[in-house]
Amino acid sequence: MKPSNVILILLIWMLEILALHADFPGTWEVLVHNARIASMHTVVTRFNTVVLLDRTDLSPTEHGYPRYHCHVDPQISEDPEPRPDCYTYSAVYDLINPSPRPLTIITDTWCSSGQFLPDGTLLQTGGDHDGFKKIRMFAPCDTKSLCDWEELDDIELTQGRWYSTNQILPNGSVIILGGKDAVSIELFPPKSGGGVVNFPFLADAADDQMDTLYPYVHLLPNGHLFVFANNKSVLYDHTNNIVLKQYPQLEGGPRNYPSAGSSVMLALTGDYSSATIIVCGGAQYGAYNAMHTTAPAKSSCGRIEATAKEPVWEMEDMPVRRIMGDMVMLPTGDILIINGAQSGSQGFELASNPCLHPVLYKPDAQLGSRFFIQNPGKVPRLYHSTANLLPDGRVLLAGSNPHSYYNFSTEFPTELKIEAFSPDYLSPVNKFIRPTIIEIPEKIRYGGGFDVVVTVDFPVMVLGVPEVNIASAPFATHSFSQGQRLVKLDVSVAWSGRLGSYRLACKAPPDGKVAPPGYYMVFVVYRGVPSVAKWVQLV
Ligand SMILES: *[C@@H]1O[C@H](CO)[C@@H](O)[C@H](O)[C@H]1NC(C)=O
Ligand SMILES: *[C@@H]1O[C@H](CO)[C@@H](O)[C@H](O)[C@H]1NC(C)=O
Ligand SMILES: *[C@@H]1O[C@H](CO)[C@@H](O)[C@H](O)[C@H]1NC(C)=O
Repeated sequence: MKPSNVILILLIWMLEILALHADFPGTWEVLVHNARIASMHTVVTRFNTVVLLDRTDLSPTEHGYPRYHCHVDPQISEDPEPRPDCYTYSAVYDLINPSPRPLTIITDTWCSSGQFLPDGTLLQTGGDHDGFKKIRMFAPCDTKSLCDWEELDDIELTQGRWYSTNQILPNGSVIILGGKDAVSIELFPPKSGGGVVNFPFLADAADDQMDTLYPYVHLLPNGHLFVFANNKSVLYDHTNNIVLKQYPQLEGGPRNYPSAGSSVMLALTGDYSSATIIVCGGAQYGAYNAMHTTAPAKSSCGRIEATAKEPVWEMEDMPVRRIMGDMVMLPTGDILIINGAQSGSQGFELASNPCLHPVLYKPDAQLGSRFFIQNPGKVPRLYHSTANLLPDGRVLLAGSNPHSYYNFSTEFPTELKIEAFSPDYLSPVNKFIRPTIIEIPEKIRYGGGFDVVVTVDFPVMVLGVPEVNIASAPFATHSFSQGQRLVKLDVSVAWSGRLGSYRLACKAPPDGKVAPPGYYMVFVVYRGVPSVAKWVQLV
């Protein structure tokens, strides 16, 4: 390294230190000024595109994207003069080209669910009205091709599902759990003969304001599911349909829709024998029924080692109260808590006091000092907003529409802007230690070894081995990212060639319980700074 570079680095470091004193960490940018729709459900695909999806029964507004055939939703056309909606409410946004391309979706996707299948196709299920039992597919493509939604006609869900949660299983099937008035589970692909399995836990956990919708579902590395609804949770053996364990109740009131906090499973690491779940924030019990828009949200978080013999919730307070926050697993294993409000509950016109400061949660820090306030944004993202990790380490924020229809002339207008938040690891001072992936296989096999070649501009890698972490692409909606997962791989530096270039010997996850089959973003993380990810298929 040239002496002038060293001086430059020192200078940037000093500027950063000054900047940190003046401000909170993290920066914001607008990616798309007018996406034409407010995304209620958002996913990132392996082609580095983002699928935006709203409900399709907003009819008729001047927004959305014009479509060729107009549609009258059969169940909302009691209107004496049914007004056909000639717009589509889905689009695909290419991260390089900032102009979203409309996609065609007809049936109603309002409050639906989804998950990527092992071959990278997005499965999307349920919704309201004519979409209640619908199954849809989106096979993503590169930006030169014109892939679109396919709404299946030959197969449908056994039970209608509105506000359900999907989770991919170790064998690549997807479990579809719960929903409004759906105390059951079903699978995709369906079992021969179809049908549902009753899941009485959802009825046991119910209260008088539906606080069990969009249950938090996490696939633990022992293959069982951790299912959380209201303030209760169970360990569920989905293969034999047995509840193996009831966890203690989480204090502080309900945490799922319409009182949503959010939840993540911490990064899986080491020998993958342990998994820890956290649940943070939520509305005050009763705020929803009373339509109490100024009821202060909760700041409390519970953390539980779901695989422990006698698990207990460890409680901790966030520095800000939050309802409808999104918890995003960053490539480092830290968690970004972003979006939402400080008062009210979920539902139309039911929240106030936007929570503009994201908070970073560092799971490895001491209890009581895990939260770090980040730079505030300017755009309120309340009900029906989303947050997704991008392959470049930024976090994409879309949506917010706390109204029955699109409304741009009210206190919290329908939000058509798409933004990105860059955590501090992307600050200029870290540019010199940001690894670049030069070589990586396209496919990795369970339990198999594989090599990743990386370069670093400022090669001080002798100070430690980088992490290689694989992140799933979840289906983000209603403050919960279905199927979100980060797995830290076993890594050693196998070879270092010229200064700054390293070959890392990695071991793929042992099985589908640790990481279900499918496409993952592989990040090399060096001293807390992630590379741009490469997509790899785990088979
Ligand atoms: C996947 O596993 C589930 C058990 O949890 C089972 O019911 C289903 O039949 C399996 N799917 C396939 C395709 O084998
Ligand atoms: C869990 O919620 C129920 C009401 O749904 C309540 O009666 C119970 O006290 C709550 N448990 C705790 C620990 O707060
Ligand atoms: C938008 O919201 C305002 C304030 O609540 C209301 O007066 C107006 O009628 C709404 N507009 C539409 C198009 O719904």
